[in-house]
Amino acid sequence: MPTLVEIAQLHGNTDERALEHLVALVSEWGMLADFCFADMLLYLPTANAQWLVVAQVRAATGQTLYDTDLVGTNADLIEHTMIDQAFSSQKIVTGEIRVESLPDLVNLMAIPVRCDDHVVAVLTREWSTRSGRRPGQLERTYLTIFDEFARMISDGLFPFEGRVEDSSVAPRVGDGVIVLDAEARVRYASPNAVSAMHRVGVSANAVGQSLAELGIAETAARHAFDRREPVVEEFEQTSEVTLLTRTIPTLKRSGHEVSVTGGVVLLRDVSELRRRDRLLLTKDATIREIHHRVKNNLQTISSLLRLQARRLKSEEAISAIAESVRRIRTIALVHETLSHEAGEDISFVEIVRPLLRLVEEGLQSTDRPVKFSVEGDGGRLPATIATSLSVVILELLQNAVDHGFPEGSLGGAVLVTLGRDDDALTVRVVDNGRGLRADFDIGKATGLGLSIVRTLVTTELAGTIQMRPAKQSDSVSGVVIVRDGVGTIVDLKIPVVRA
Ligand SMILES: Nc1ncnc2c1ncn2[C@@H]1O[C@H](COP(=O)(O)OP(=O)(O)O)[C@@H](O)[C@H]1O
Ligand SMILES: [Mg+2]
Repeated sequence: MPTLVEIAQLHGNTDERALEHLVALVSEWGMLADFCFADMLLYLPTANAQWLVVAQVRAATGQTLYDTDLVGTNADLIEHTMIDQAFSSQKIVTGEIRVESLPDLVNLMAIPVRCDDHVVAVLTREWSTRSGRRPGQLERTYLTIFDEFARMISDGLFPFEGRVEDSSVAPRVGDGVIVLDAEARVRYASPNAVSAMHRVGVSANAVGQSLAELGIAETAARHAFDRREPVVEEFEQTSEVTLLTRTIPTLKRSGHEVSVTGGVVLLRDVSELRRRDRLLLTKDATIREIHHRVKNNLQTISSLLRLQARRLKSEEAISAIAESVRRIRTIALVHETLSHEAGEDISFVEIVRPLLRLVEEGLQSTDRPVKFSVEGDGGRLPATIATSLSVVILELLQNAVDHGFPEGSLGGAVLVTLGRDDDALTVRVVDNGRGLRADFDIGKATGLGLSIVRTLVTTELAGTIQMRPAKQSDSVSGVVIVRDGVGTIVDLKIPVVRA
């Protein structure tokens, strides 16, 4: 069977850019046909002023009108007129046509396909009111989505540029659909989507909630909305269930501006496929996979805690949970980094940087800006050391923020310096904040943070800690100490056996 491009070229249509656009459209239009429950045909103008069918698709969600293959045939008179109209007016045209083999009139929607500044083809949706599905909420919602995509096609915003994905496992409309508003909140979830969410443990009514609250596909949605293109993401909520999601933003053009109006998430349960894949994984990949899952589980735990915190009234309880969430996220960060590594050790700076960002994120007020930086290189560390040590550094950074730059202060800088020699790793955390109280003694500090630090450093890591007021002579380019005692220095020394 000749391809779309071959048929087009056979009839004198050789605009490569336009054909590329149409090929991309056709690679996506199974979804469109499914959303509108109808047959779709793609028409190209030919050299002798005819409209030629170059591609045809049937909906998996509805009955077809055409048992025969129409590719290579021309539009007949009434169709021709409507297609012409859509083409020249550059607007979507609807009407009715008579099809020889069918008793009833057929509804036709002709959508001009815009590529750059030109209409290059016309796409039609053809359906019979008779054979259609009875409209329920699903049908009404899907048709609204279809209308959005139709508008995007006529505005040249669909298909998306330059995205060719492996479509063999890509989720389809029938697998499950979540409809999002512009804030990535769920407007609608199809019954299959609800079931899939159940399997990953989301049993609440999803409508009105954001994906972040539901804990699914939230980063995918953020990327899809920011980059204005579809994002495919696979995620495992539990070790049993793997969901494959494809998040497609819907866009609107007004003047030169393109804005996101919402989106759809197609989701498919690929657990069975992945279970089989997994059997084929090598040991290394298995370990990475496990780190990945541990990370996911930790993220689930921190989302659950955050949900709980939202119901609390007591300030103390809220901040205790926020602290726990930060600690859990720190450990998740280590597993995330490990999940990208081949072995069981990691380059430690790669954890320290996101760790600084984590603390920075928690700093809500802008009236006391704190500049975080990291210098040096701790080399590679085994996973167990890296995990404990990142929790320690988190506590130190958090203390620098909480006690060095409390509310009402002016802000300042925090620097983490990493050093490494043959048998030890050194970490120095310096801040130029308020400084330690005169009677401070790390051996006697009873706070939870420093207790964690002490336990992990001395017992788990067999290292040493020193904590003292910063002196002017300790100033470095990252942190300037203006006066002795205005600032705090923590020095850690952790023995590391060479691998
Ligand atoms: N960077 C710092 N600057 C000033 N004071 C600090 C610093 N780090 C720790 N401290 C002091 O040490 C105490 C104990 O800290 P910690 O054990 O983490 O408990 P918490 O942070 O809950 O008070 C703090 O209350 C503070 O007085
Ligand atoms: Mg603390």
